[in-house]
Amino acid sequence: MGSVYNKKVMDHFNNPRNIGIIEEPSVIIQVGDPSCGDTLLMSLKIKKDKIVDIKYKIYGCGAAVATSSIASEMAMGKTLNDALKITDDSIAEALGGLPEEKHHCSNLAASALRGAINEYRKSALKRT
Ligand code: FES
Repeated sequence: MGSVYNKKVMDHFNNPRNIGIIEEPSVIIQVGDPSCGDTLLMSLKIKKDKIVDIKYKIYGCGAAVATSSIASEMAMGKTLNDALKITDDSIAEALGGLPEEKHHCSNLAASALRGAINEYRKSALKRT
């Protein structure tokens, strides 16, 4: 039986990139999808307004793994403003598409990125 996922999704699912937790992160955040209970823990290292490292741990379905993996590649090296432009749609598109019922899974990585950047900016404001 064929997979519901395309080759690119399967590649990221089988070999997720940038898995782990950064030891001294600039920010770390956990987000969950209440509809399925899957969670994503994302840590970022930020220098001069750029994401210089990104690592995550994902407890979720195949699409959650693949979307977190490709989102980490998309965000790596980006300025915070550019990283904020990464959306659930652009993540799914970068993977060559997801089955309709799996589209919501790409929300986890997109909202973790957004949440982490907002959190980092808030705490940076407090420091100044
Ligand atoms: S089913 Fe929960 S993120 Fe995919």
